[in-house]
Amino acid sequence: MLTARKVAKTYENGTQALRDINLTVNRGEVVYILGESGAGKTTFLKLLLGMEKPTAGELVLAGISLINPRPEEIRRLRRQTGAVFQDFKLILGRTARENVALSLRILGVGWATNKKQSEAALAAVGLADKMDNLVGTLSWGERQRVALARAVVRKPQLLLADEPTGNLDEVSVGYVAQMLTLAVEGGSTLIVATHDSRLIERLPGRILVLKEGSLTKEPASLRGQTACCDGGVE
Ligand SMILES: Nc1ncnc2c1ncn2[C@@H]1O[C@H](COP(=O)(O)OP(=O)(O)OP(=O)(O)O)[C@@H](O)[C@H]1O
Ligand SMILES: [Mg+2]
Repeated sequence: MLTARKVAKTYENGTQALRDINLTVNRGEVVYILGESGAGKTTFLKLLLGMEKPTAGELVLAGISLINPRPEEIRRLRRQTGAVFQDFKLILGRTARENVALSLRILGVGWATNKKQSEAALAAVGLADKMDNLVGTLSWGERQRVALARAVVRKPQLLLADEPTGNLDEVSVGYVAQMLTLAVEGGSTLIVATHDSRLIERLPGRILVLKEGSLTKEPASLRGQTACCDGGVE
């Protein structure tokens, strides 16, 4: 699904956000990226969405090189990708249901199927009773769950989530974990930047740690909680 070889990202102001990243992620894997603030987690996810370009190395996602992709290749990748970022990018003046439905409409899903799937996705994140509320009136944690429903409803090959449980309470973390589990069961590959052990306990996966832009092995204290920790970082 994903191969990174000696990937680096240096921003124009000289900040070295990622250094010498070597990584292979297989289809259907769950991968967590841990690391302190500023370690490069969001930058890595942005490379995978084609929002930023690597400044060195090779990065291939679903057979497409992200070093110098053509616009149509980026469009193709984005259709197959669901993403939840820290700023959500929801339409505040539309309802939760409309926001989720729009994600399916772009893929050409018909009205009746769209309605059914959007409602099911919002119910799965605990928002059955808030579907018709304007997103602008929802709490931050509720918006976060709408954004996740919108990303997962399109059954993406790759699901990228940046701190999907930041500031959420236990019950909401449970909904997020349940939704991510559904995505994995549906065949999505999952790459999640998180600090949240509550999420990792509920949905085991391979743990990678970014430290000042470099990948290190997972910390010993988190080993044992994870189902699969072999390989990957080379
Ligand atoms: N557009 C940008 N221009 C310049 N530097 C940037 C830019 N975006 C991020 N950086 C820098 O790159 C480094 C990595 O940032 P990034 O946002 O990837 O970290 P992060 O691990 O996601 O942190 P957090 O946990 O706080 O979200 C930081 O030093 C940050 O200041
Ligand atoms: Mg970040």
